[in-house]
Amino acid sequence: MNEKIVVKAALLGAGTVGSGVYALAGLLEDEMVHKTGASLEIKKILVRDKKKKRDGIPCEILTDDWKEIIEDEEIRLVIEVMGGVEPARTYILEALKAGKQVVTANKDLLAEHGQEILTLAENNGCDLQFEAAVAGAIPIIRPLKQSLAGGRLTEIMGIVNGTTNYILTKMSEEGMGYQEALAEATRLGYAEADPTADVEGYDAGRKIAIMASLAFNSNVTFSDVYTEGITKITSEDIRYAREFGYVVKLLGVTRLADGKIEVKVHPMLIADSHPLATVRDSFNAVFVHGEACDDAMFMGRGAGKMPTASAVMGDIIIVMRNILHDNCGWNGGIAYKNFPVKPIEETRSRYFLRMQVMDKAGALANIAGVLGNNDVSIAQVVQNRGKDGIAELVVITDSVLERHFNDALMIVRGMSVLKEISGIIRVYGE
Ligand code: NAP
Ligand code: HSE
Repeated sequence: MNEKIVVKAALLGAGTVGSGVYALAGLLEDEMVHKTGASLEIKKILVRDKKKKRDGIPCEILTDDWKEIIEDEEIRLVIEVMGGVEPARTYILEALKAGKQVVTANKDLLAEHGQEILTLAENNGCDLQFEAAVAGAIPIIRPLKQSLAGGRLTEIMGIVNGTTNYILTKMSEEGMGYQEALAEATRLGYAEADPTADVEGYDAGRKIAIMASLAFNSNVTFSDVYTEGITKITSEDIRYAREFGYVVKLLGVTRLADGKIEVKVHPMLIADSHPLATVRDSFNAVFVHGEACDDAMFMGRGAGKMPTASAVMGDIIIVMRNILHDNCGWNGGIAYKNFPVKPIEETRSRYFLRMQVMDKAGALANIAGVLGNNDVSIAQVVQNRGKDGIAELVVITDSVLERHFNDALMIVRGMSVLKEISGIIRVYGE
């Protein structure tokens, strides 16, 4: 083994993930040569504010000038962990054009510009690795591109946002308020710089778009994904869900059926006996179904400094091996099919519907009649007498076309017996 080979790299970003990557590079310093055939040197780190004190990172290697990196011919590897679409996109494209290898954790960028970046990487014979962009420490990108590529995949379903899973777990198990749980998830480094992306389902939407593209070899972007977040979920919904034997999770789902892709993120009731119901805290889990592989499940830490850094470091190791063996440039993931995406109205779901209604004879029958007339069949129902002549009515439906459910809901909203619709959540299963 030649101990003199050093791969020089630049880190773009020294925040939650970047500082974790730098720390791991230090921890693995003596082993890198055994794992890859070379040592790793992080020569420069790009930040916004180079005067900010950063524990364990020498200030001499900090820079706020991209030119110091792109024009440095010694730097062969760029590790982008700064986030956002621009200037990350420009920097990555420039790095690939300059023949530098790239590792990124940036799902925002890949969910919009993945095909452009992968194509440039392929044309320039460069590596573009992005395991950390989906589900933190869980290996899922490489399995989709390689291990599971031997058969047709038909469905991916998963809990792919650590922040919202943490919030829902705390609300459900400890009765913690939504704001308090979000603040704790932010303190722990799970949340995005703007946590709206987490709680509104955009972050999970970007991850499911990336996975759908890889699984179905088709270009699925974030704009194709139907998203609904967890901000409307209340402790009452969670309590009723538990009474019915369910837990509430934010799920990303994508399916390929009849030549069309379904791709969406929304809260869902899952039976408490289902394996996904046991995925708590900031853990993520991804279920994959394929015609040949059948079911496969991947689970692990989906967010946070060291779990994410672990996935980034795994990519760095692969790129370093490829550099040493002159083997860079195969990335997989280029779309060679062109399946259309199904509008959400044409997909099917079961529904949990919680309503406040007038507590008088015929109210339940009237509402059930409207649902039935619109092809919405009721599977379970609970009615609880409240105060001031109001009763709470909770219904779980059978599987229904979203369009039919929306038609029924529009009529129910106009009924005089209805005081309020308090909760609408889809339910997993046929
Ligand atoms: P973060 O804590 O906000 O850190 C961002 C870093 O990038 C900071 O050091 C910042 O510099 C630097 N930066 C941002 N914009 C810059 C610019 N225009 N020029 C130069 N430097 C810039 O973010 P993070 O949580 O580490 O996330 C980084 C990436 O990893 C994102 O793409 C994120 O989606 C992804 N990711 C995060 C996690 C997680 O658990 N946090 C998990 C998986 C993937 P300053 O320090 O000077 O402000
Ligand atoms: N904010 C993201 C999450 C980070 O909570 O899952 C990991 O991608």
